[in-house]
Amino acid sequence: MDLKRTQLLLLFFAFLCAQVRKLNGDSIPGCIPIERNALLGFKEGLKDPSNRLSSWVGDDCCTWEGVACDNRTRHVIKLDLRNPRPFSDANDLFLYKKWSLGGELRPSLLGLKYLNYLDLSMNNFGGIRIPEFMGSFRQLKYLNLSCASLGGLVPHQLGNLSSLQYLDLSYNYYDDNQPGFLIIDNAIWISRLSSLRYLDMTEVQFREGAHWLQALNMLPSVVEVHLQSCGINTTSLSLSHVNFTSLSVLDLSGNFINSTIPGWLFNISSLEYLDLSYNFFRGIIPPAIKNLASLKALDLSSNQFLEGKIPVELGKLCKLQYLGLSYINISKNLLEFEEVFSGCIKNNLETLYMWNTQLSGYLPDWLGDFRKLKYLDLSGNSIFDPIPESLGRLSALQELYLFDNKLNGTFPKSLGRLAELIELSLGQNFLEGVMSEEQFANFTKLKYLDLSQNQLILNLTSNWIPPFQLQELVIGSCKLGPRFPAWLRMLKNITYLDMSSTEISDAIPNWFWRSFSQIWYLDISCNRITGSVPDLTDFIDLEYFNLSSNHFEGPLPNFNSSRLWLLDLSNNSFSGAVHRDIGKSIPHLEYLSLSTNNLSGEIPLSLCHLRYGSLDLSKNLLFDELPDCWNHSSLIIVIDFSSNNLSGSVLPSICSLRFLESLHLSNNNLSGELPSSLKSCARLNTLDLG
Ligand SMILES: *[C@@H]1O[C@H](CO)[C@@H](O)[C@H](O)[C@H]1NC(C)=O
Ligand SMILES: *[C@@H]1O[C@H](CO)[C@@H](O)[C@H](O)[C@H]1NC(C)=O
Ligand SMILES: *[C@@H]1O[C@H](CO)[C@@H](O)[C@H](O)[C@H]1NC(C)=O
Ligand SMILES: *[C@@H]1O[C@H](CO)[C@@H](O)[C@H](O)[C@H]1NC(C)=O
Ligand SMILES: *[C@@H]1O[C@H](CO)[C@@H](O)[C@H](O)[C@H]1NC(C)=O
Ligand SMILES: *[C@@H]1O[C@H](CO)[C@@H](O)[C@H](O)[C@H]1NC(C)=O
Ligand SMILES: *[C@@H]1O[C@H](CO)[C@@H](O)[C@H](O)[C@H]1NC(C)=O
Ligand SMILES: *[C@@H]1O[C@H](CO)[C@@H](O)[C@H](O)[C@H]1NC(C)=O
Ligand SMILES: *[C@@H]1O[C@H](CO)[C@@H](O)[C@H](O)[C@H]1NC(C)=O
Ligand SMILES: *[C@@H]1O[C@H](CO)[C@@H](O)[C@H](O)[C@H]1NC(C)=O
Ligand SMILES: *[C@@H]1O[C@H](CO)[C@@H](O)[C@H](O)[C@H]1NC(C)=O
Ligand SMILES: *[C@@H]1O[C@H](CO)[C@@H](O)[C@H](O)[C@H]1NC(C)=O
Repeated sequence: MDLKRTQLLLLFFAFLCAQVRKLNGDSIPGCIPIERNALLGFKEGLKDPSNRLSSWVGDDCCTWEGVACDNRTRHVIKLDLRNPRPFSDANDLFLYKKWSLGGELRPSLLGLKYLNYLDLSMNNFGGIRIPEFMGSFRQLKYLNLSCASLGGLVPHQLGNLSSLQYLDLSYNYYDDNQPGFLIIDNAIWISRLSSLRYLDMTEVQFREGAHWLQALNMLPSVVEVHLQSCGINTTSLSLSHVNFTSLSVLDLSGNFINSTIPGWLFNISSLEYLDLSYNFFRGIIPPAIKNLASLKALDLSSNQFLEGKIPVELGKLCKLQYLGLSYINISKNLLEFEEVFSGCIKNNLETLYMWNTQLSGYLPDWLGDFRKLKYLDLSGNSIFDPIPESLGRLSALQELYLFDNKLNGTFPKSLGRLAELIELSLGQNFLEGVMSEEQFANFTKLKYLDLSQNQLILNLTSNWIPPFQLQELVIGSCKLGPRFPAWLRMLKNITYLDMSSTEISDAIPNWFWRSFSQIWYLDISCNRITGSVPDLTDFIDLEYFNLSSNHFEGPLPNFNSSRLWLLDLSNNSFSGAVHRDIGKSIPHLEYLSLSTNNLSGEIPLSLCHLRYGSLDLSKNLLFDELPDCWNHSSLIIVIDFSSNNLSGSVLPSICSLRFLESLHLSNNNLSGELPSSLKSCARLNTLDLG
């Protein structure tokens, strides 16, 4: 009974509340006319090609796209004009641009006296400055001008935004017409943003003597600071007393800082994320690092002057999840790290990057103790001996990069247990032995597999059903043949395939060309593959295409890829003519070799359109005269037309090629006088007319 009464009472209060709310806010329609006019005035200055602001009509501006009002006072408090079409790859760029606002930022916006949130990010204002009036929004708590193609000096007036908590001026590099950046000449105004918690200045350029550190040090409540790629090239980061002890995130990566790692950093015990990568920090990693007990991510990569041993204290950072120590000048033998990595650091570490760090020694068993490790990259070192079975204990591992080391022995059986692997890269080592179907059986999530440049034998039968859907398969110089692998047909998502020198001696199946039109990198060179190649005009993503040193025959395929830069069909038995439009259908070719085939006919004039690189048509049956259409703007460096049946004379235009270094015309039927223009081939260092 009691329960029911309480319920009824609660219901009654809920009803009352709703009524009061209606009276106080929700039901009051419309917005304040002065503010409506302010918005309309602001809109007038904007360019809005996709008509995003089409809802900005009528009286009630509180209902307009991107506008929000206070429920009670009806004042406009929020204006969010962020581009709704973010881009993740170049294909989205078109839509992103279309949905970008541009034009001017008119001061009529100042009519919005109660604005506390302004987001103009991801638009394109074509390099205009941030207007000084932006500093006049007394109530503003959030200002996001990220990625808006703004440029020039950031006005000091922004320092008047005394309520501001979030300031994001990142990524304002714009390149539509001329490159430009936001620039900070003197950062002292930042010190007046006394409420600031979050500052992102990524890619804003700080002039020398901008006093950014002193300014930041006046902000005791700042929590997150991003100063990535800000052109900071200071030699000293000294502070007598560190004030910003609430700091949780500090990103100084991609600058030119060549100081030692400053001691005050270790007073900021709240720091969780510290990125000093891609700088010129020198000296040692100080043992005081142990004070940063909250640290979850530490990146010191690409500081080639950091040297000495990794301090044992680093191993006491029990919360560390991410550790980047690539490309620094630390002690070289992996075994010396045992004491460091026996600390509690091994409990939570998920990422360990130590590529290109000149590491030597063998892979120690304690590496297997990092139970949460997901990403391990030790590539580009000199680590030797076999991969230990203990790595099979890393059951959370998703990416294992041991590429380019001196590992030998066989593929360890225990690695076959790593069922979470998405990327496995063991290329360029001295691994040997047979890999069976069974060893791949658990790799159901694998997307990237590199076993190339080892002495591995892949014992995979023709009717094998691969457990994975790879996107990239790199097995050059593994022994795979003699049959062409039928299982390849099931890897429908392959975009990158290196199967060169794999001892395949077989006809290429027809399905191969039908299944892989999404491929951009194909290298099946140096096998004994037979067959002809169909029209490839639907392979529109091709960038690299190498069939050289096989037994392909029939006519040359047609291409239609504006991205193709390497085309090597040399050392085969292709016959017929070179397509007349080859130079036009593949406009960005940098390397073309059709050498050592049975091609006949003339050299197409369209080849004169090639912009770059190297052109090799030697050892064919080409006849008729040399093309005479070379022009000045070409950057061709090598021409080899030797060992054909070309006749006529060496034509004067060949020396329009200002960058030509090597010209081979030997073994033809050329005659007549050499043109005197040859002397203008200033860079020529090889001329073979034998
Ligand atoms: C105003 O009202 C809307 C809709 O009723 C609600 O979603 C929003 O949270 C309210 N805002 C404030 C600041 O009360
Ligand atoms: C600012 O906008 C960008 C892009 O729209 C977004 O990625 C970023 O998180 C925003 N910054 C803040 C502090 O919210
Ligand atoms: C805003 O800042 C500028 C320069 O930093 C200063 O000259 C100006 O008086 C300030 N304006 C107001 C309204 O406080
Ligand atoms: C620390 O911050 C306070 C208040 O912002 C300021 O008065 C003081 O000068 C700062 N100290 C240093 C060394 O910058
Ligand atoms: C910092 O870079 C600027 C511009 O590149 C240069 O003029 C200046 O000499 C550099 N300063 C230092 C201390 O390296
Ligand atoms: C760091 O903290 C210590 C001990 O609290 C203090 O003595 C020292 O002055 C601080 N250093 C800086 C640069 O703030
Ligand atoms: C740091 O860089 C500056 C200029 O870029 C240079 O003058 C100075 O010698 C460098 N210091 C060290 C220790 O490398
Ligand atoms: C790396 O450190 C060694 C000594 O530990 C030193 O001889 C060498 O010059 C350093 N290399 C660089 C690039 O600083
Ligand atoms: C690996 O190479 C080392 C020399 O670097 C050699 O001593 C060892 O026997 C090799 N191990 C295997 C399994 O080949
Ligand atoms: C695959 O995983 C299962 C279950 O963990 C295990 O029994 C089997 O040995 C693994 N296969 C290989 C080749 O490691
Ligand atoms: C390859 O695998 C088959 C079974 O799938 C086996 O009979 C054969 O011995 C293996 N060959 C080598 C060289 O290991
Ligand atoms: C192929 O890739 C696409 C896009 O990455 C994905 O949606 C699809 O599921 C993949 N197909 C297979 C069979 O993995």
